[in-house]
Amino acid sequence: MSYYQVGSLEQYFKHYNKSLREPRKFWDRIADENFTWYQKWDKVVEFDMQEAEVKWFLNAKVNITKNCIDRHLAKRGDKTAILFEPNNPEEEAQHITYNQLYDRVCKMANVLRDQGIQKGDRVCIYLPMIPELAIAVLACARIGAIHSVVFAGFSASAVASRVNDSGCKMVITADGGFRGSKTIDLKGIIDEALEKCDTVENVLVVKRTNTTINMKEGRDKWLQPLLEEAQPNNVAEIMDAEDPLFILYTSGSTGKPKGMLHTTAGYMVYSAYTFKNVFAYQENDVYWCTADIGWITGHSYILYGPLLNGATTVLFEGVPSYPDFGRFWEVVDKHKVTQFYTAPTAIRALAKENWEWVNKYDLSSLKVLGSVGEPINEEAWHWYNDHVGKKKSPIVDTWWQTETGGIMISPLPFITPTKPTYATLPLPGVQPVLMDDKRNEIEGNQVVGSLCIKFPWPGMARTIWGDHQRFKETYFTAFPGKYFTGDGALRDEVGYYRITGRVDDVVIVSGHNLGTAPIEDAINEHPAVAESAIVGFPHDVKGNALYGFIILKETGEGRDRDNLMKEINEHVSSHIGPIAKLDKIQFVSGLPKTRSGKIMRRILRKIAEGDYSNFGDISTLLNPEIVEEIKEGKL
Ligand code: PRX
Repeated sequence: MSYYQVGSLEQYFKHYNKSLREPRKFWDRIADENFTWYQKWDKVVEFDMQEAEVKWFLNAKVNITKNCIDRHLAKRGDKTAILFEPNNPEEEAQHITYNQLYDRVCKMANVLRDQGIQKGDRVCIYLPMIPELAIAVLACARIGAIHSVVFAGFSASAVASRVNDSGCKMVITADGGFRGSKTIDLKGIIDEALEKCDTVENVLVVKRTNTTINMKEGRDKWLQPLLEEAQPNNVAEIMDAEDPLFILYTSGSTGKPKGMLHTTAGYMVYSAYTFKNVFAYQENDVYWCTADIGWITGHSYILYGPLLNGATTVLFEGVPSYPDFGRFWEVVDKHKVTQFYTAPTAIRALAKENWEWVNKYDLSSLKVLGSVGEPINEEAWHWYNDHVGKKKSPIVDTWWQTETGGIMISPLPFITPTKPTYATLPLPGVQPVLMDDKRNEIEGNQVVGSLCIKFPWPGMARTIWGDHQRFKETYFTAFPGKYFTGDGALRDEVGYYRITGRVDDVVIVSGHNLGTAPIEDAINEHPAVAESAIVGFPHDVKGNALYGFIILKETGEGRDRDNLMKEINEHVSSHIGPIAKLDKIQFVSGLPKTRSGKIMRRILRKIAEGDYSNFGDISTLLNPEIVEEIKEGKL
């Protein structure tokens, strides 16, 4: 029996139990049967969770790009690997076959080597969502260089701190990037960033927007001429299983960003296995994940997971609102997309618009819908299910993190019965536990606690680049011997998990633990509300009280505010209980969000507390101007 694919609920439990009882055998089999190795491992796993030391597939030798590309050539050489859909719908889509991908990655890998990049060197990739981004990432992996993709929306100072932290030797960027109706001056941002970086020797520039840019003599080179001169074939570097594959920065709760380090073999096995099962991928499917490759979702589920399975993966340069709110659905229709994976924030934004935008297009090709990045509220879940999935495509609400490398808790489509707002069950190989404040494991169902993982899985990050101590302290100290996710979760009567949000977002009101996510859920269901964020603020009697920042839909705009506040509170009371009543409500036009769409709650907490002294670093906000507006509008 192969463990690579789960075919039924019964089989899921069988595989799951096998992975609990004999994790080594379970992963050994999956790794053995589904990948190409130069040399197999001596030992499946070795770990010390107290010390945050984990190794998988010890002493195995492999190259991930041989598995993503070369091994598909015989059978799938003419199949589309990457389907590029440009920002402008008038520009033609590009179908890059596996053969073409092989050629382009080999040439790019040779360019990198010609420019002096060697195994172990760090390369910062700051590119828009164009094929060269995928090709640059794979070319690094081909020669064993460690890619550090920085989302091409980060500011110069954010780029500089990331380049410096990992000591990048090269930056790959573009003259500019298209994003909706805007053109972003990427090269200008890199020029500014590199004023503060000493380690970068070369900058390779892709031509995309034809923007006039400065080229610094001796440092900057156009990529295209180098590619034209490059040799066609490239011998992939033989990598050890635990050689670093990439660094990806994620924001810490405080201080500087954390460069999460992922290594080669474990990440490969895990991203491939999870992709195959969570999206029930079949040979002729057209899979689309709308994330950016600058985030872990793009790494694992635009590039590595799909390509490892020989899939066709859509690479979309644009945004959901350009040229209109039907853009996502137009692309689904045009390319007959079968799996569609996006974030709740996008779903909510689109749900605010007329659903005629969805109905205009034929979405009958869709089989599976996915959600990732934050808890999906009930209203958004139903909108997604009703209008996009037409109640026939299961929604996989996938819980995971940059640190986990791949999906950890998720329904398997057509197998696990879904339940709105629940990520449901752990994937085989994943052992979640809920912990109480006294560091005890909470047994049984219908319980809430801090979500930890008690056994290593192949895709987990191995360290924080240059700071193993921080890695250990952040993830392995709160609950010694276990990986602490930073999230709270509840386990319902059948053992399904619902992620309630970051543990630091829990507010204790009159001694009751209240997750902010379910309260927001309830508020968002009010017909006049578009989005909300709840934080705690100090209260004389209750200890903490709740403060709600609420964005209204157009339908709520002209209404009597006092009445609306009353209505919203009644709504919350009836959904959660009177304890969840908000003491203060402020209507706002936007919420401070990071570029990945997460609300930056620490700022809202400060405003709610009336402490304007130090907002900390707001440079990573998408809309920093909103902070001032909210502050001014405070009651
Ligand atoms: O709080 C959880 C939330 O996003 C966090 C991880 O963020 P990041 O590292 O940026 O990775 C996002 C993409 C994997 C988690 O700790 N989160 C992610 N997915 C879900 C979620 N919360 C609830 N439900 C989810 N499906």
